[in-house]
Amino acid sequence: MLESLLYHYIGGGLLASLLISYHSQSGSSARLARAAWQGARLEADVDTVVRRAWDTGVADLSMADGLLLVAAENSGALSGGMKDFLDRNFYPAIDRGLVLPYVLLVSAGNDGRGAVRQVERILSGIPFPPAAEPLILRGEVCDTHLRDCRELGQAFAAGLGMGIY
Ligand SMILES: Cc1cc2nc3c(=O)[nH]c(=O)nc-3n(C[C@H](O)[C@H](O)[C@H](O)COP(=O)(O)O)c2cc1C
Repeated sequence: MLESLLYHYIGGGLLASLLISYHSQSGSSARLARAAWQGARLEADVDTVVRRAWDTGVADLSMADGLLLVAAENSGALSGGMKDFLDRNFYPAIDRGLVLPYVLLVSAGNDGRGAVRQVERILSGIPFPPAAEPLILRGEVCDTHLRDCRELGQAFAAGLGMGIY
């Protein structure tokens, strides 16, 4: 608790913290994560941290007020790197009593629903509540996708800054 308060106490104000964790093989999900980060950082009173899913641990989750996940659907399921992150942190998050609102962005060829189902099922078991409907970005990353991710990143950060979740 004290560690968390010290972490948030920056420049005389209490900052909310958003953790963006992503997994990407070809770079598509990474581009979406970057766009979400660009939107989130527009919120001056929110500290946004970006981590690769492989490098994200329960210490990062403990410092965060909200979690934004970005990953692809592979073979009808959540990408392996993101699945590893969720499996690795499932019990540690429960043990610490973490309840983080989350937002999910899925990069997909033509579906994405399998990845969404998996994330929702895993996170409901911790439980982490969704802060928004999952967003599936299908096909090649385009300007519309990037805009949508920026907007969602900013909206989530703004909500965290206002303490509405
Ligand atoms: C091995 C493999 C399996 C895939 N399976 C699916 C799938 O089941 N459904 C889908 O919509 N897209 C599928 N795709 C497409 C990816 O989801 C899409 O290309 C995504 O943008 C990849 O993002 P990333 O390279 O950042 O991980 C697959 C791609 C690969 C390489």
